Amino acid sequence: MFYGLSKFLKQLLPKQLFYRGLLIVALPIIILQITISIVFFDSLWIKTNIGMTRALVGEIKTFIDSYNKNGADKIFVENTFEEHLDIDVVYFQNKKFSNFMNEKWYSPIDRSLRRELKSKNLEYWFDTSKFKNTVNLKIKNESDYFEFFIPRERLTSTSVRIFALWITLPAILIVAIAIIFLKNQTRPIKKLAEASKKFGRGENISEFIPSGASEIRQAGYEFEKMRKRILRHLNQRSEMLSGISHDLRTPLTRMKLQLALINDKNLVDRFSSDIDEMEKMLNEYLQFSSEINKEQNENFEFNELIEKIISKFNNNIIEFNKSENLFFVGRKLSIQRCLTNLIENSSKFSNKIEINIQKLKSNILIFIDDNGPGIPIHERENVFKPFYKIDKSRSEKSSSVGLGLSISSDIIRSHGGKIELGDSKLGGLKVIISLPF
Ligand SMILES: Nc1ncnc2c1ncn2[C@@H]1O[C@H](COP(=O)(O)OP(=O)(O)OP(=O)(O)O)[C@@H](O)[C@H]1O
Ligand SMILES: [Mg+2]
Repeated sequence: MFYGLSKFLKQLLPKQLFYRGLLIVALPIIILQITISIVFFDSLWIKTNIGMTRALVGEIKTFIDSYNKNGADKIFVENTFEEHLDIDVVYFQNKKFSNFMNEKWYSPIDRSLRRELKSKNLEYWFDTSKFKNTVNLKIKNESDYFEFFIPRERLTSTSVRIFALWITLPAILIVAIAIIFLKNQTRPIKKLAEASKKFGRGENISEFIPSGASEIRQAGYEFEKMRKRILRHLNQRSEMLSGISHDLRTPLTRMKLQLALINDKNLVDRFSSDIDEMEKMLNEYLQFSSEINKEQNENFEFNELIEKIISKFNNNIIEFNKSENLFFVGRKLSIQRCLTNLIENSSKFSNKIEINIQKLKSNILIFIDDNGPGIPIHERENVFKPFYKIDKSRSEKSSSVGLGLSISSDIIRSHGGKIELGDSKLGGLKVIISLPF
């Protein structure tokens, strides 16, 4: 039960740190304000109003009794009352009195006035809202009636508006200050998340400058240290490999020259084909490593890119199911190279290829299916290793190097994506690429 409740609350709570922080600050303030307002309204304002109304009705009753007393100087009583109590009185003789009125049950002023007038057994009619600052009250006096014009402040304390103002203004001010502070506190976290996301996708980011509270700053420093370490490691690896590849070309060329001096034609042919293959491997690797380091990110349309790649192959065997416009930021040439490698593999082994592309909430999925022999499950990890070929006989037809899949997976992973192999419904291999955007 508690699990269900906490799940429900979690769904209700805002997801972003900024709004959560704001809620933590604003909620107690709002609860406090409501409590203070209720206490003030009930125990102070209403009670004060009741006291004031009771005093006023008492005064009016005293006036009426003095007025009605036998032999009373009516003009004197009326003048004294008007003069000292700041209430205007008009006496209507032989006028019909109707006590029909629109009762406003929700108004606390009306309620207390009604209650007090009733307790004094007076027949009355009043309107508290007809005039802005005056309450109009009529009281029956046998066949006549009195009409009173009473200043509103005699019935109610006007401090309620000032109180409401004073209670809401600081609250708004506190929340506004909290918004500014929270924005400043969450900005460094957002910056860090953005930098991590970009780095994870293989984008080039300039040096990350940590900012914000000490914990966030610490996380920023650690991120920057990790980023530099990874970059150093990557550079070291590719520099070493390019170095080796580059240096191997010289002895290979020398070997080629020396071959010319050998007389055995058969031996020369065998050696030179091996040397050619080695040279191809080196060139392929060197080309790849020089491309990947140079290229910058750009925004491109995925369907267009795939169509462009397909146009270079035999169109009759490839079926491409386009999707809606799909813009992506990445290293276009590298992605083109990756997809070319994969389609090339499929076209080498099959005569029917199907390419599908799909856009999900936060990533793009690309499926390449073929009707070739496929790759057995136990080989699916190995084929991604550099220079790995399943068996000679399969790829002998064209002189392949065994780098295609390893380069492709490198490219996809450097964009923060994933590449997987599976069984295709066409009977051959299914390559699934997922790229985050
Ligand atoms: N679509 C496919 N169907 C069946 N086997 C495949 C398919 N794609 C790749 N393979 C197997 O996986 C191995 C590795 O592929 P990879 O692309 O890395 O190398 P390659 O195609 O032999 O050489 P390169 O691409 O460097 O010219 C290939 O030798 C091949 O046996
Ligand atoms: Mg290949």
